[in-house]
Amino acid sequence: MRRIAVIGAGLMGHGIAQIFAGKEWRVSLTDVDEAILSKAVQGIRANLTFLAQNGIGALEDVEPALDRIRTTLSLEEAAADADFVIEAVAERLDLKQGLFSRLDTMCPSKTILATNTSVMSITEIASKSKNRARIVGTHFWNPPYLVPLVEVVPGNDTVPEVVDSTYDVLKKVGKHPVKVRRDVPGFVGNRLQHALWREAISIVDQGIADAATVDEVIKNSFGIRLPVLGPLETADMVGLDLTLQIHDYILRHLDRSTEPAPVLKEKVRQGDLGFKTGKGFQEWGAESIDECRRRLTEHLVRWVREQKTG
Ligand code: NAI
Repeated sequence: MRRIAVIGAGLMGHGIAQIFAGKEWRVSLTDVDEAILSKAVQGIRANLTFLAQNGIGALEDVEPALDRIRTTLSLEEAAADADFVIEAVAERLDLKQGLFSRLDTMCPSKTILATNTSVMSITEIASKSKNRARIVGTHFWNPPYLVPLVEVVPGNDTVPEVVDSTYDVLKKVGKHPVKVRRDVPGFVGNRLQHALWREAISIVDQGIADAATVDEVIKNSFGIRLPVLGPLETADMVGLDLTLQIHDYILRHLDRSTEPAPVLKEKVRQGDLGFKTGKGFQEWGAESIDECRRRLTEHLVRWVREQKTG
């Protein structure tokens, strides 16, 4: 497989296109908005240059990677000769279902069709298509060219060969794919992440600690361990007998709501959306926003560099 079509050139789509172009794939990048397509190419150039300047990749490989990307407003043109398609359009079920049923008729039956949905059922996304056996989830994390993991998720009708080929392709382009056994909302990563967010928001909602303190607790305790020791390894390390005792006592006190927290609804109602408006759980000015983004990028770059050299 050598040709990929990436549908949607926004935050995730342009980063996914970048990964494949950097690994010698021919990339067709398509969107409904010409301005987004040119912004995507500029973004890829800036990302690859930044990475090369920080020891990931080489400056002389930047332009050749860009030469392998063609942009088009035509879905048909992008998808027609692709071996692999990744959809990264907005998180709307009807939009994704419509796209997959169109891709299903446009692409040869051997073409694998993947969706980058964050949480939605692969089976539902594929439900309006005929050849559902070749539709699979590939859940990348932002920014996709720095965060290694991709969850490969089968729908109810996906054949194992499609899961295996998708896994192999992702591995070859330098990602860290994992196979999720079953199609459930949120897969593995977002179920875990949002279980933590639910409790974090609930702690703020109940006035147990403020938002900054919640984050401080995580960043200075089990958060430090997480890159080298997952929660289930930690459970084994401390002993399952102790884990059982702790769960026996604590679980009934944890948040179990199936609705978003009142504090979250109220903040959104008031227009406090976080970085976008300067206020969310905390106050944000231009400087603290830049500092926060810089901190994250530096951390990820350092981490990727260490993985490559280590
Ligand atoms: P985005 O809003 O940045 O990009 C979506 C792009 O799709 C836009 O450029 C839009 O013009 C384009 N688009 C809309 N309809 C289209 C169509 N019919 N054909 C072609 N292009 C079309 O969104 P983002 O953040 O890149 O998310 C894309 C997908 O990736 C969503 O399913 C999202 O849930 C998922 N995702 C997002 C992550 C994130 O951190 N933002 C992480 C992992 C997955």
